[in-house]
Amino acid sequence: MNTHVAAIDQGTTSSRVMVFDASLRVVSVAQREHRQICPEPGWVEHDPAEILGNVRELAAQALREAGIEASQLAAVGIANQRETAVLWERASGRALGNAIVWQDCRTESLVRDIVQRTGPQGWRERTGLPPANYFSACKLQWLLRRHAGAMQAAARGELLFGTIDAWLAWNLTGGPDGGQHVCDVTNASRTNLFDIHRLRWDEEICEALGVPMACLPRVVSTSQPIGCIRDGALAGAQLAALVGDQQAALIGQACFAPGQAKVTYGTGSFLLMHTGERAAPSASGLLTTVAYRLGEQAPCYALEGSIAVTGSLVRWLRDNLGLIATAAEIEELARSVPDNGDVYFVPAFSGLFAPHWRPDARGVLVGLTHFAHRGHLARAALEATAFQVQEIVAAMQRDSGMKLREIKVDGGMSANSLLMQFQADLLDTSVIRPVCGETTALGAACAAGLAVGVWSDTDELASHWQAQRRWEPAMSGAERERLLGRWQQAVQRALDWSQPAS
Ligand SMILES: Nc1ncnc2c1ncn2[C@@H]1O[C@H](COP(=O)(O)OP(=O)(O)OP(=O)(O)O)[C@@H](O)[C@H]1O
Ligand SMILES: [Mg+2]
Repeated sequence: MNTHVAAIDQGTTSSRVMVFDASLRVVSVAQREHRQICPEPGWVEHDPAEILGNVRELAAQALREAGIEASQLAAVGIANQRETAVLWERASGRALGNAIVWQDCRTESLVRDIVQRTGPQGWRERTGLPPANYFSACKLQWLLRRHAGAMQAAARGELLFGTIDAWLAWNLTGGPDGGQHVCDVTNASRTNLFDIHRLRWDEEICEALGVPMACLPRVVSTSQPIGCIRDGALAGAQLAALVGDQQAALIGQACFAPGQAKVTYGTGSFLLMHTGERAAPSASGLLTTVAYRLGEQAPCYALEGSIAVTGSLVRWLRDNLGLIATAAEIEELARSVPDNGDVYFVPAFSGLFAPHWRPDARGVLVGLTHFAHRGHLARAALEATAFQVQEIVAAMQRDSGMKLREIKVDGGMSANSLLMQFQADLLDTSVIRPVCGETTALGAACAAGLAVGVWSDTDELASHWQAQRRWEPAMSGAERERLLGRWQQAVQRALDWSQPAS
């Protein structure tokens, strides 16, 4: 029987392919980073052909290391970095320029246009999202305007738009030769073109933004058979799940009941709380998003707080400042000082996302005196992540009227104990890390396996979830309030800095 499941986790900084067995144990992992292309301040691009090439090679490597062939896979699932936009030619498969990455700020003037026309909330009631650079709609608008004749070609169906799930699915299922042009409901819900209640592209929004609907992918469930893979090492296996990486982590953390929440600390950090079959609106700057849709079942929704820069700040300290040699070293450096020495780092490199939504913000380091040294910088950088997550949890508690009793964590930065303890202290909540830290790939594997009957339901998946470590809050209320107050002062100083070209 085919009981192995493969997951492609196409992230912002790297791609992974992982093979799991029927008990959800990891059998093999292959990973590779891709280039972060930053041609101008505030711009971030990826080469979609490089990403596709990496995924192909990693798939072959993961199968080889697992000692299995594609014919032994019950299903393959794809989790992907969300919002990143690709436009390509149907006939050749060639992308028009690079993919515009979710962190990219170049569309600020397009966003201002939308705000002027619709008000600051934009089409939030329908899409769950405010107008912002972050989402795909303006990135697609920019691509269509940038390339001569693109608008007309897109209207004729000769150009295809996709988030990264769609780009990979189309290529893996045949590309120009009959590839499936599909994306799933979770990815569609991050474009700002998708009606999350009716689960379809919104004609009126597409019209308002000048996006021809002929270039949009067909929207499928998160977990459903999509088609046979006809490309490379995975050829012959069934593609059976597409899911945005943060929603995949929610599944991988077995958050299947309303009120359950997780934070993934990767390039950015993302807190998602399951809200059941209800799309809960937010009054506090959170996003309403589709959590997943399993086959023909009703969709489940989530409230989300997205933070653009967390792990990427650690990477920036490593690569751009040379402050540390490896990401893990930041913990030791931060422990070399007893506290932050009143230094705060607001890493608004892509503006500020939730709950502020301020594209005009840029990074600031405040509180410097002769006393400060590299240890304080490291500590301030780590604490910035915890402060930003705290702001989101506070917003979520306001919106939902519920107090989070515990929060599940994962992603690269959850390896950092200093950060996890500080997070528990700031939230005044237990922080729990699971045995399997690769929750994104795990979630994609779970969704794919569910679609083909490897697992019968979410209860069975939840029974495999196990905690590995917990952190309990140990900070006084007065100290917490003092730190949060200082952070808010620092945030004020990051605002109103960028001057977009008009
Ligand atoms: N011990 C650590 N302390 C602090 N930060 C860390 C540590 N280890 C890794 N990181 C940071 O975590 C990030 C990597 O996390 P992870 O592997 O979850 O990301 P990823 O899945 O590759 O991200 P993405 O999916 O966004 O590409 C990097 O930005 C790195 O700087
Ligand atoms: Mg990731």
